Amino acid sequence: MKNIVILISGRGSNMQALVQAAIPGAQVAAVISNRADAAGLAWAAAQGLATASLSHRDYPSREDYDAALMALIDTYAPDLVVLAGFMRILTPAFCRHYQGRLINIHPSLLPAFTGLDTHQRALEAGCRVAGCTVHFVTPELDCGPVIVQGAVPVLDHDTAATLAERVLAVEHQVLPQAVADFVSGSLSIRGNRVYRVENTVDATAQL
Ligand code: GAR
Repeated sequence: MKNIVILISGRGSNMQALVQAAIPGAQVAAVISNRADAAGLAWAAAQGLATASLSHRDYPSREDYDAALMALIDTYAPDLVVLAGFMRILTPAFCRHYQGRLINIHPSLLPAFTGLDTHQRALEAGCRVAGCTVHFVTPELDCGPVIVQGAVPVLDHDTAATLAERVLAVEHQVLPQAVADFVSGSLSIRGNRVYRVENTVDATAQL
């Protein structure tokens, strides 16, 4: 059984989708937030899941906070750490510590629109397609190897809010899909690309 630790900062709808997916071979060991008042934390506790909060305001530096967060996460012996709306930039030390077992969901089709306000920026850029990306986390913000993406159309009368709602529905599908692929051991990273094991075998056969 693979232990999953989920980090959130607020609503936690992606975390809920992941919990409700009940992926075979995976168990949610804990849900952790940097905000004690995160709505998702109350939901997780009501499901009987282990929850914890660790406020970044209690630490003098990003490095100190991330070290404490790592220590907390590691008490749950995670095989996979999932950033599901965890709105913090992570230190290189944190990213290195969980290299290959740390994934993030981002509300854009990366590499377009890293960072914040992704939907407004997609509208202003005139995109006709938008979406979301689940990727392995590396020290460079929103730049790690992509596991899965989901796309939606941009409609003529979209606002950032209506587009966000359409993308979020797809986020709830692709995040459990990416975690299921990880848990089944079928993902392999080479360079900045992620392969399914079947593809890896095929690629090798062609050499
Ligand atoms: C989601 O849209 C997620 O993609 C985004 O925050 C939202 C969290 O919603 N994450 C980021 O922007 C990370 N840079 P949720 O709390 O309901 O899952």
